[in-house]
Amino acid sequence: MLRQVTHLSLFFSFVLPSLSEDLPQDARFSAFQSASEEANATVDAVLALAVPEGYVAAPWYPTPHGGWTPDWAESYAKAADLVANMTLAEKTNITTGTGYFMDRCTGNTGSAHRVGFPQLCLQDGPLGVRNTENNTAFPAGITIGATWNKELMYQRGAAIGQEFRGKGANIHLGPSVGALGRKPRGGRNWEGFGSDPVLQGIAARESVRGIQDQGVIATIKHWLVNEQEMFRMYNPFQPGYSSNVDDRTLHELYMWPFAEAIRAGVGAVMSAYNAVNGSASTQNSYLINNLLKDELGFQGFMMSDWFAQNSGVATALSGLDMSMPGDPTVPLFGDAWWAFHLTEAVLNGSVPVDRINDMATRIVAAWYQMGQDQDYPEPNFSSWTDDAVGLLHPGALISPQGVVNEFVDVQGDHAAIARAVATEAITLLKNDNQTLPLSSSATLAVFGSAAAQNPDGPNSCADKGCNKGTLGMGWGSGSADYPYLDDPISALRRRTSNLTEYLTDTFPSTIDAGEDYALVFITADSGENYITVDGNPGDRTVAGLYAWHNGDELVEKAAEQYDTVIVIVQTVGPILMDWSDLPSVKAILFQHLPGQEAGESLTSILYGEESPSGHLPYSITHQESDLPESVDLVYFELGQPQDTYAERHYIDYRYLNAHNITPHYPFGHGLSYANFSLSTATLTSLSPLTSLPPPPSPKLPTPTYPTTIPNPSTSPTEAIYPPNFSRIWRYIYSYLSESDALRAYDIGQSPTTTPYPYPAGYSATQRNHSVPAGGGPGGNPALFEPIFAVNVTVTNTGAAASTNNSTSNSTSTYTGHAKAVLQAYIQFPASTQSSFDTPPVQLRGFAKTRALAPGESQEVELTLTRKDVSVWDVARQNWVVPDPAGEYLVWLGWSSGQLGVACSSVTGVCAERERGPVGLGLSLR
Ligand code: BGC
Repeated sequence: MLRQVTHLSLFFSFVLPSLSEDLPQDARFSAFQSASEEANATVDAVLALAVPEGYVAAPWYPTPHGGWTPDWAESYAKAADLVANMTLAEKTNITTGTGYFMDRCTGNTGSAHRVGFPQLCLQDGPLGVRNTENNTAFPAGITIGATWNKELMYQRGAAIGQEFRGKGANIHLGPSVGALGRKPRGGRNWEGFGSDPVLQGIAARESVRGIQDQGVIATIKHWLVNEQEMFRMYNPFQPGYSSNVDDRTLHELYMWPFAEAIRAGVGAVMSAYNAVNGSASTQNSYLINNLLKDELGFQGFMMSDWFAQNSGVATALSGLDMSMPGDPTVPLFGDAWWAFHLTEAVLNGSVPVDRINDMATRIVAAWYQMGQDQDYPEPNFSSWTDDAVGLLHPGALISPQGVVNEFVDVQGDHAAIARAVATEAITLLKNDNQTLPLSSSATLAVFGSAAAQNPDGPNSCADKGCNKGTLGMGWGSGSADYPYLDDPISALRRRTSNLTEYLTDTFPSTIDAGEDYALVFITADSGENYITVDGNPGDRTVAGLYAWHNGDELVEKAAEQYDTVIVIVQTVGPILMDWSDLPSVKAILFQHLPGQEAGESLTSILYGEESPSGHLPYSITHQESDLPESVDLVYFELGQPQDTYAERHYIDYRYLNAHNITPHYPFGHGLSYANFSLSTATLTSLSPLTSLPPPPSPKLPTPTYPTTIPNPSTSPTEAIYPPNFSRIWRYIYSYLSESDALRAYDIGQSPTTTPYPYPAGYSATQRNHSVPAGGGPGGNPALFEPIFAVNVTVTNTGAAASTNNSTSNSTSTYTGHAKAVLQAYIQFPASTQSSFDTPPVQLRGFAKTRALAPGESQEVELTLTRKDVSVWDVARQNWVVPDPAGEYLVWLGWSSGQLGVACSSVTGVCAERERGPVGLGLSLR
């Protein structure tokens, strides 16, 4: 049976205008590319007018060669040997996908088998292997973010990596850190880890390490500022929206998690769909060449998001290395922006040989870097059918058949990791009168369809494009199929027979309300733009930030009938909870998006086998208007929708704190069944602060190759279809016909040829020096030097076992053990405010303790780096410590709104303060 794949619906919703205008024969580029590229250039010029003044995507050329950092040197040396033996057509073949639906995976590159380089399989998605079976459906990114547990972040990444490897996927299309969550309504925030660059960055770093330790190439995505779904894509009638962002905000918020992933050695980066400061993400030379590959020292390869590429030569010059899935804007006709067109563009001199060499070297180096040259399995599944035997190239329609699914079970013991994540993420927002944990004899009435899995089956909607039953993940390419879904109601049934079930979203007209507790399950969903669910095109448009399916009314009705209501929320992000202060709403738990382990994880918390230890990865406001207007969704505009980041680096709690707006529940908030104290805190300076980091070391030399354009008349194998080559209809190849190859070569050699109209600012000369902020993976290595160490003792001051349940004689199973999440926030010296406005506090580190017994303590150490105490100085284009001798305060506490201990960088003394830095005081509610 064919899997339902909805991606393509996008492309048939419009008709392409003709691009076949005649071009002079001597132009150094192919007709197909030039016509559309010229059209794009004209469109870009017109659109640039719409971008507000001050937001610029300056030209930055050429693409820095890869291979200049020591950690990649060995892989580059091997790659250089291999690439030196490749023909031009082999190099272009590995840069381009073979076409959507053409091979088994979400995307597949061409191969260079002659020299031992295989086809690569690129597969979604961030929470597990998509479009297959016998895989684990892990809790989503936002859920692992809510655990604040670095070890679990690594373990989840490692388990995901093992599953991708087990299925034979070379490249995992995750983790996602863009969207960062600037817009609470943004459709894909849940694929990432939370609305703070440090939380996102640490989770990304640990995930990348876990994935890549299994030999799988991780892909950090989407570069960059991809904060909403609607209007994200370019189409012939409208360009994707432009995110207009200033340089400081880019550095301090949106680039930060990418820098962490690059430091962790990530092998691939995926572009965004949208434009940034007016220039499309796949051909934005400033973003890719300058920020990503030069300043952040990214040594792997940059791929396009699926169908995000809008030009051939321009994307190559701007630093794109891989075109995915290979098709041009209109898929499935065997055409491409690259592949054979890229071969042609190199032959005719438009794309320098040097650039194609670098693209190929980056891809091959990443493959060596993960050790994929040693016994890496081939794909054993098909994304497109769940039959064992099927078309080998389904997109071709006429295709040989063969075994496409071997149904390899890759789950191992990963259910335990998935469950640990789902459990540790559960965030207790409110627990009046110690309502939780429940006693084993408590009588329960359960309300809400979300308590039970979708009656049609948990995988019945393609890519989870419906919100029916337990919400374990959002919708879109970031989803995966469930092997099973342990839903809350099944887990509750296993615990108790004192259960009355009302598994609908309409409050029953007659109930006796005799139970001790009402458990009300509600949801809020979102996803990717190619599916609209209940009127929401990815982003939460019509649903707003309210619970779906009249969830608010369900809670309110239950609160009228019961004295003790426990609300359980499965959600992609913040929701507004106007009912939260109703007297009978005693407890609120966020499960976030728990994946397949939604049941037992919840009951282990409800019944107190484990104490909740999740913390919010975003703030929850009282009303949507508490956040700035500029983070609202942008809607239709004639021309290019403009999304201007007028709030600059003030998002989420940074904004709320700066404007003295008390959140409903602050970023980082999460209650425990225990209480914790902090004691014996100290701050040690590890290295003297200077205002600027020392200059980085020079770049290492990168591979060099001959740069002569190969002559297809003397070396036909370089570019021309081999004799008797059997083509699959509509499959994308990198070969040219003999006449096309010779014509392209002649154009390139002719002294009278009109040169390719290179963009303003274009240069082919490599910049061999490191920029002051660059010089290593993630930036100048000095930025990551530890500057302060903060040591503190965390003690569980809670009572031993709890018998708090007034409505029952039996006790809960709570033993008193609990994990705490310590958070550290930096406050910049007051003296810096006149030169750099910095948010009142910013998260800079966190640690989760082990499960501490009552009375037990654990020493925790957090280190802050030079980057943590710096601001991005736009004029100097460097990270600057604004006042090296000034007093930095490192605030310690349990959330951005509950910071009670301040450590001074001047005295090293940490002291309890009566008021926190943001005027919220010490206790929350
Ligand atoms: C998404 C990517 C995804 C790709 C392949 C795109 O629509 O934005 O995140 O990896 O499709 O499915």
